[in-house]
This record gives sequence, structure tokens and C-alpha cells, in this order.
Amino acid sequence: MKEIGLTDAVSLGCGNPTMLADLKPGEIVLDLGSGAGLDVLLSARRVSPGGHAYGLDMTDEMLELANRNRDRARLKNATFLKGSIESIPLPDDSVDVVISNCVINLAEDKGAVIREAYRVLRPGGRLAVADMVELEPLSSELKQRLDSWAGCISGTIPIDEYRAALVTAGFDEPDFEVHATQSLPGVGKVGSAYIRARKR
Ligand SMILES: C[S@@+](CC[C@H](N)C(=O)[O-])C[C@H]1O[C@@H](n2cnc3c(N)ncnc32)[C@H](O)[C@@H]1O
Repeated sequence: MKEIGLTDAVSLGCGNPTMLADLKPGEIVLDLGSGAGLDVLLSARRVSPGGHAYGLDMTDEMLELANRNRDRARLKNATFLKGSIESIPLPDDSVDVVISNCVINLAEDKGAVIREAYRVLRPGGRLAVADMVELEPLSSELKQRLDSWAGCISGTIPIDEYRAALVTAGFDEPDFEVHATQSLPGVGKVGSAYIRARKR
């Protein structure tokens, strides 16, 4: 995190969506489930000058930490919003890039999150997400366990289901790249994926 002057901040993500997003100066970025804010702060640097990075999180503790990190990084073009990723508090067609790092799998209604991402993106805007996906079916017992939900495992869905939700929302040609896998013997298999798609 030296790029933003934070050497001791924590990421709970499963990839690097800011690299995936190919951000450019002047762009507006939104990070769904921004946590401590690291991807927002990296994005704010990359869209400067003229751009802005928003982080959205539902947890007061994470928002406080993110605001502290922003102040320490002395960034003026980053804003943290409180709310649910299933009901994004931004207007239609207001964002160039939606990023997210290991959060959409946690949402109960992933279809709603993807529809909301589509709504706030401008036409031609892009989605660049790191997320966990289910590669081999997980046992129903595991799916019910809250601790593995919090660990980004039991909320995962198969790539085909993820792709269908993106296409149903209106996204063009979703692309999935699995960059790490984890086998859970007798339970199933999950992977970390980079997911890219564009709003028509
Ligand atoms: C696994 S952490 C990832 C944080 C961050 N993206 C990172 O890479 O470090 C999940 C974050 O998403 C937030 N979150 C989970 N579900 C959410 C929801 N439905 N709406 C808004 N925030 C949510 C949590 O509060 C937490 O900060």
C-alpha cells in the first residue's frame, strides 16, 4: 500500500480490481463493499486529476476506518458512502467504472447487486470485479454455515449462474478468469475470479 502512503492497512479482498479496471484520469469509480477503503484510495490516485472514487459499505466501523485511511493518504477525491450494494445511493448513469473486491458473493440477492451496478453505470461503462466463485458444488451443510459465508465461501455461485445474472441485467460479453483455486476435500471447490463486463 506504499502507493497511497499506507504501510499497515489491511485488505480483505481476493484480487486486484483496480489493475483489472484500467482506470484513466477523469473517470468516476465506485467500489462495492469498500471495507477499509484501499481499492478506493488506489482508484482515487489513478483517476486523478479530474476523477473521483466512491466507496460504498454498510458497516460504520469500516466507514470510519476508510475515512481515517483517506485522511492519512491526504486524498481529496475519495468519498465513502453508507448503504447497501443491493440499493446503491447514486443516480442512474453516473459512474464510469464499478469495481468490487470479494463482496458480491456475500450478498443475499446477487441479481439485485448486478442490476444496481448496471443502473449506475453510464452507457459504455465497465464492471471490473474480483470475487469468489463456486467451481465444484459445495455441500448444503457448508452452504448453511455462517462462518464460511463470512469467509467468502458458502455464498459463492457457479460461473454460469454469475454470467446469466450479468447478461440478464444487460451486460455485454461477461468475461471470467479464474486465477486461484481452493479445493475443500469432500466439500467442493472454489476459486478467485476476475470478472469483466461492459454496459451497452
Ligand atoms: C470481505 S470484506 C472486503 C472489503 C474490501 N473490498 C477489501 O477488499 O478489503 C467485505 C466488505 O463488504 C461489506 N459488505 C458486505 N455486504 C454488504 C452489503 N450488502 N452492502 C454494503 N456493504 C457490504 C462489509 O461491511 C465489508 O466491509
